[in-house]
Amino acid sequence: MVYISVSGSSSSKVSSEESGVDFIGSGRADSDSVAMNGFDDSVADSKIWDIHDEGLDFYENHSTDITSTNLWVKKQFPRLVKHWQSSVDKGSTLHILAIGSGRGQKDAEILRQVKDHFSRVSYRVVEPNYNRLQDLQTRLVEKAAPEHVSFDIRLEKACTSSLMDKKFHLIHLLHVVAYIENAEEYLLQCYKQLQPNGVLLVQIDSDDENGLAFLDGVIKASNERSGGLMKGFLMTSQLENVLKKHSFNYEKFHYAGTADITECFRDDSSEGECLLHYLLLQENFNITELTKDTRKQILAHLRESSHVKMCGEKIVIQDEFDMFLIYKE
Ligand SMILES: C[S@@+](CC[C@H](N)C(=O)[O-])C[C@H]1O[C@@H](n2cnc3c(N)ncnc32)[C@H](O)[C@@H]1O
Repeated sequence: MVYISVSGSSSSKVSSEESGVDFIGSGRADSDSVAMNGFDDSVADSKIWDIHDEGLDFYENHSTDITSTNLWVKKQFPRLVKHWQSSVDKGSTLHILAIGSGRGQKDAEILRQVKDHFSRVSYRVVEPNYNRLQDLQTRLVEKAAPEHVSFDIRLEKACTSSLMDKKFHLIHLLHVVAYIENAEEYLLQCYKQLQPNGVLLVQIDSDDENGLAFLDGVIKASNERSGGLMKGFLMTSQLENVLKKHSFNYEKFHYAGTADITECFRDDSSEGECLLHYLLLQENFNITELTKDTRKQILAHLRESSHVKMCGEKIVIQDEFDMFLIYKE
């Protein structure tokens, strides 16, 4: 996913009465069964996330990220299933931990790929955004779950308590390590909590030559303004340095996608406004407060970026990312 700036929190404040109780069950779940473990109210308060989420919806609908990731999952997971089958006894449970799952589109594909190959699947999801988690619950639990799959869905940020009580065959962080403070330490903990034959799956923006200069500039600028919400690893090289430092056994897959951002350049397009807001989001920053001149400058900067190209009539932004498979030794 291309980040021009920062995101990642709840769009609405929710009380624990509204959100219901922790859910660990199989098959179906009550519609309000999201846990409130460790929920960060101060982040949830920000109204700005409402606009951000509309932009994210629009971005997801115009980007190839989810479809290309799902194609990758479809292609690679049969091999991983075999890898896990060698260590999960017949009748035993495959344990999955999904961190920062958003609306769960990628988890739906992962579940599709694994569910028929194990007697039981235990699927834990950790996501701090209430609205996204509600969508995920509908998509994953209410629509797609067979009886032998149990869910443990948690409204919280990545934290050690959701890791430490058991060991997992798969832990994934897809476009999430950028938001995680002490990302190196957290990844080491994830690695430690893998089962023998366990796999840590990490998706991250690629720092190819063009992207690096582009992302580096905008992320630095946005972090300066926001106080640094993106505290984790932003790009491949940061992650890869850590993997090498700890001599982890890993595979890396590079792939590219695009997102159609033509709408941002149309005057009076509310979708374009949302999308631009998503691309530029930072705390205490509201695009509706921009002067016409600043807005013009931002669009010119975007248009001139080596990441942005014409594709027929459309203006598209290139989305380059890497997928890491890190194997427990
Ligand atoms: C860019 S979205 C990626 C969603 C999904 N994994 C995907 O690839 O489609 C990042 C997600 O991480 C969540 N997030 C932000 N900070 C987090 C944290 N500290 N711990 C766990 N998740 C976090 C956000 O709420 C958001 O849903």
